[in-house]
Amino acid sequence: MEKKQTRGGFSTSLGFILAAAGSAIGLGNLWRFPYLAAKDGGGLFIVIYILFSLTFGFALMTTEIAIGRKTGLSPFQAYGKVDKRFKFIGVLATLVPVLIFPYYCVIGGWVTKYAVTYATGGASQIREVGPNQFFGNFITAQASPIIWFLVFMALTAVVVILGVDKGIEKASKIMMPILAVLIIGISVYSLTLKHTDENGVTRTALEGLKIYLIPNLDGITPSKFITVALDAMGQMFYSMSLAMGIMITYGSYCRKDSNLISSVNQIEIFDTAVALFAGLIMIPTVYAFQGREGLSQAGPGLMFKALPAIFEQMGKLGEVVGACFFLLVLFAALTSSISLMETVASVFIDRFKMSRPKATGVTFICAVLIGVMVCLGYNVWYFEATLPNGATGQQILDILDYISNSILMPIVAISTCVLIGWVVKPEYVVDEVKQGIGNKKFRREKLYVVMMKFIAPVLLFLIFLQAFNVFSFLK
Ligand code: PHE
Repeated sequence: MEKKQTRGGFSTSLGFILAAAGSAIGLGNLWRFPYLAAKDGGGLFIVIYILFSLTFGFALMTTEIAIGRKTGLSPFQAYGKVDKRFKFIGVLATLVPVLIFPYYCVIGGWVTKYAVTYATGGASQIREVGPNQFFGNFITAQASPIIWFLVFMALTAVVVILGVDKGIEKASKIMMPILAVLIIGISVYSLTLKHTDENGVTRTALEGLKIYLIPNLDGITPSKFITVALDAMGQMFYSMSLAMGIMITYGSYCRKDSNLISSVNQIEIFDTAVALFAGLIMIPTVYAFQGREGLSQAGPGLMFKALPAIFEQMGKLGEVVGACFFLLVLFAALTSSISLMETVASVFIDRFKMSRPKATGVTFICAVLIGVMVCLGYNVWYFEATLPNGATGQQILDILDYISNSILMPIVAISTCVLIGWVVKPEYVVDEVKQGIGNKKFRREKLYVVMMKFIAPVLLFLIFLQAFNVFSFLK
């Protein structure tokens, strides 16, 4: 019991839910979800996504939180405690945040730079050179991205050093409600937009809303349908921060008397709602100002180039909207990076018996080494690699992302399904879930068992195959 006290824990269920939702809600919700929805037939993608999250996502998230709470350990040791032969999952699951944390902080640094630039009235600097050039100049500079990366990581480290209840829980309780208000506010505003381009064509945000929400079944063939389903599955898996030890770590700080199922439901609802609202901001706005072509820009381009170009056209108001928007992104990114750093630090605390400040310090130093390499990947170490999934022109950041998300995460998740579904049997998790729900029933118990034994491993294997571009013939 003494060990429990030194590890710390969340003081309330709400604190746990907000922290876990904070981890789940991140850059993936803000730019990846809207972009995929626009590309994959709008409402069709959304419906499939929600179905997956209620079944597949629900089963995996419940499993991880339950393993964490039952073992009371961070991922490195938790899997070995469930079954000695599966210790390797712990090693792989720990490797994922070790790889993701540094590059996530590099992107966090870009977001911090933009948030500070807008908030301090620096929008004119972006206007002068144009958003594309501004972004290009920034990431190819040698010192500036490293400095912003360190600023962002230092903000994360302060919260982690303060501990689970006084740091992570407190920070989530402040940032998450602000995030919710900002995202609702900005999305309501963006639905009122209208723009006339240089050819005299006027487009309204509400027309863009139709592209986003109404299922577009035009030209939908079985192979296109499979592509949409695979996109939805991959997105859900990443968006819920699964298979990277995070939910195990947070689960290990979770109170025994909390209701795991209702927590998982609330985390999922929060995560999905934010993704849907992000789409309400991105798609109608980009459509009104740039038409359908604007929507085809994916990823960082959408966030750091397309939106700033739009804020610019809104004049003075655009500076305020820009500042609010990047503050929103900053909070989303911070709560995610906190969960990554905590997961790595918790391994040092549990396995090597380090104090929390020391564990945070060691994590910080390791991440600086990798993060600096990532920053240099855009200038001195610039190269263009082609990955096995077919993506071309890739840098160090993309390679780390590929190894962690496309290779390690599916392996961790499939092995977890084998361990829980077939080796220790689903009762291991079901029993843990039943603790804390009192005399209520675990209503989705059957669904859970079938998911873990049969369906989830197959779906995960399909995600894994995508890493090697196996489905390219469908496109
Ligand atoms: N779930 C986060 C998102 O949707 C991504 C994330 C990745 C969070 C890694 C934490 C760690 O953006």
